[in-house]
This record gives sequence, structure tokens and C-alpha cells, in this order.
Amino acid sequence: MKLTIDILRQKDSASAPYRQKIEYDALPDDTVATLLHQLNAEENLKDVEGNPVGQIHWQCSCLQKKCGACAMRINGVPALACDTKLNTCKRGQLVLEPLKKFPTVRDLIVDRSLMMDNLIAIHNWLEQAAHHTGKAAELCYDASRCLQCGCCLEVCPNFMPGGDFYGAAAFVPAARILSQLEKDHPQALADCYQKNIYSGCGKSLSCHHICPAGIDVEQKLSNANAAAVWKRFFK
Ligand code: SF4
Ligand code: SF4
Ligand code: FES
Repeated sequence: MKLTIDILRQKDSASAPYRQKIEYDALPDDTVATLLHQLNAEENLKDVEGNPVGQIHWQCSCLQKKCGACAMRINGVPALACDTKLNTCKRGQLVLEPLKKFPTVRDLIVDRSLMMDNLIAIHNWLEQAAHHTGKAAELCYDASRCLQCGCCLEVCPNFMPGGDFYGAAAFVPAARILSQLEKDHPQALADCYQKNIYSGCGKSLSCHHICPAGIDVEQKLSNANAAAVWKRFFK
């Protein structure tokens, strides 16, 4: 298939972004990740204006939908490059852009350390032995599949970088800890949950529909809300 690939590029975090268009013959069953590998392996690749195309910088690791590193905006929608086939492109157009809610490092690479900072800020860790019941084990297993890819934050109308609301990338891992310690969850996590998650979430659930890991995000939100907020009212 003939593709017109439009990439939003940026030399480094301080430079201005620019667009580069490339025409390329690709296989429809290939993924965006395969295409990026192929483009970078081409010698003397030129854009539509005849300018040389330098290495396109992007991140990947597993190429199996397991690490979240390759998240980017693909035709305007946040998704994993290793999980998006070229046959989903309409009219042969493929627009690749970095995630917009994180600072761009170079081309399609963004700095997502904010997500880890937020997990640290809400004290999202275990400090005692956890006891699984059958139901909690299932929920924890699903929550532990979070890739920290950031796609949920990209579509969340309430998440702004540096703001007080931390979004699904925080409440999904928090649901895991809160469910593991259902009877005696850490006070610091419950307090931060109320401030940084519960009070800022508009329940629009765009995060549920976009999650590339297919996590039942809505279930994690309602379980974490129940453990960190509602049970406290009825204690
Ligand atoms: S909840 Fe889903 S979309 Fe959000 S960071 Fe985790 S895996 Fe990515
Ligand atoms: S439910 Fe809506 S407001 Fe809450 S985290 Fe998901 S997208 Fe954001
Ligand atoms: S490279 Fe790991 S999820 Fe795509």
C-alpha cells in the first residue's frame, strides 16, 4: 500500500517542532513499529520535497504490547506503535506525533517520568504483607498489567501535567494496592487518593476506552473509590 507518512519531528526539547512528509510503499499487515524500523534502515531516504530524512527517534522495547514504550499519537489517537497495523490508515494517510501531555525529548520520544513521580507522591507501595482473596487477586492481576504508557492521560479531559489530578495511570496501580490491603490500607495512600484522584475525576471514562492493555479501568476506578473513599464514610 502507498502511504503518505506525516511525522511531527523535533530535534531536541528546546527546538521548534516541524513536519516531515514521506511517501513509502508498505505492507498493510505491518505495524507502525515495523514501518519505523524500515524507514530507519533505509539509506538515502528522502521526504516529499527531496530533503534527506534523518533517523526518526522513537522508543520501543518488547514489540509485544507489554512495555508501553512505543506509545504515540497515531492519526490523532494515542496508541502503541507495535499494536497498530497500517491497514487501519484511512486514504493511505499516517500521521505520527509524540504524546502531547508530556515534554518532547526528540521526535516521537517524550519524557513520561511524571507518571512515576505521581505514584511516588501518592505513596503507592506496599509496606506490609498483602493477603489476596480470590476476587482481589483477579483485580490485582488486571491492574498490574498497566504499562504506564500514558495513553489514558492523553485523552483525559481533567488531567493537566503538573496539576493536582493524576488520572488513570495513578488510580489503576492504586486500585491494586488498595485491594491487596482492603482491611488495612495505608492511610497516606487513602488520603492522597482522595485529593489527587477522587476529587478531580469527572468519570467521563475516556481512559477506559483508550487503554491499549485492555484493562477494565472503570472497575479499577470504582473499586479504588470504594476502598479509599466510601468505606471511610461508613466506618
Ligand atoms: S491504565 Fe492503560 S492507558 Fe493508562 S497507563 Fe495503564 S496501560 Fe496505559
Ligand atoms: S474517568 Fe474521565 S476524568 Fe477520570 S481519569 Fe478517566 S478520562 Fe480522566
Ligand atoms: S514496544 Fe513495548 S508496548 Fe510497544
